[in-house]
Amino acid sequence: MADAKDTPASGSGGAPAPSAPPAADTPAGGTSRRDFFKWSLPLGWTAFSAACASSLVATTRFLFPNVLFEPPQSFKAGFPSEYNLGEVDTRWKDAFGVWIVRNPEGFYALIAVCTHLGCSPNWLAAENKFKCPCHGSGFYQSGINFEGPAPRPLERARILLADDGQILVDKSVKFQQEKGEWSKAEAFLKL
Ligand code: FES
Repeated sequence: MADAKDTPASGSGGAPAPSAPPAADTPAGGTSRRDFFKWSLPLGWTAFSAACASSLVATTRFLFPNVLFEPPQSFKAGFPSEYNLGEVDTRWKDAFGVWIVRNPEGFYALIAVCTHLGCSPNWLAAENKFKCPCHGSGFYQSGINFEGPAPRPLERARILLADDGQILVDKSVKFQQEKGEWSKAEAFLKL
């Protein structure tokens, strides 16, 4: 009679069969290889897309840098006949930062920058003066300062007639009254 030790472990009466080894794609940590591939692919694409987007932004910044575009320094301001005698013409202030004034002798172009700290004054026709909204400086129609902290008159820009008969204003050349420059030829356009 065979000894129980010699009987192979089979059938219902034998020792329990050893458990199956863990599947090859299920590491001890619990995350299967299939899970790993399932998540790593979208994550990889997301990272790749983010890298592409950031390099696109960098390239765009390089090609189109943040540059402050200043208005042109010179411009044609129409024909003398378009201006009324004794009036401050405010048409050019927003686009070019200049007022053009016509008096009985001719024209001058005042630069719309307060000589205190550089704010942009407004022309108050009813009060016949330029008034700075920042600290209250006031300037006569001529540009001479008379109230508030502004230490000197407004500056004037070069003004002349272009070949086509229009008024040409050139802000790259400025004239200061306190230096006696308003009497220079191109500080005033005589007609
Ligand atoms: S900036 Fe015009 S009064 Fe100060």
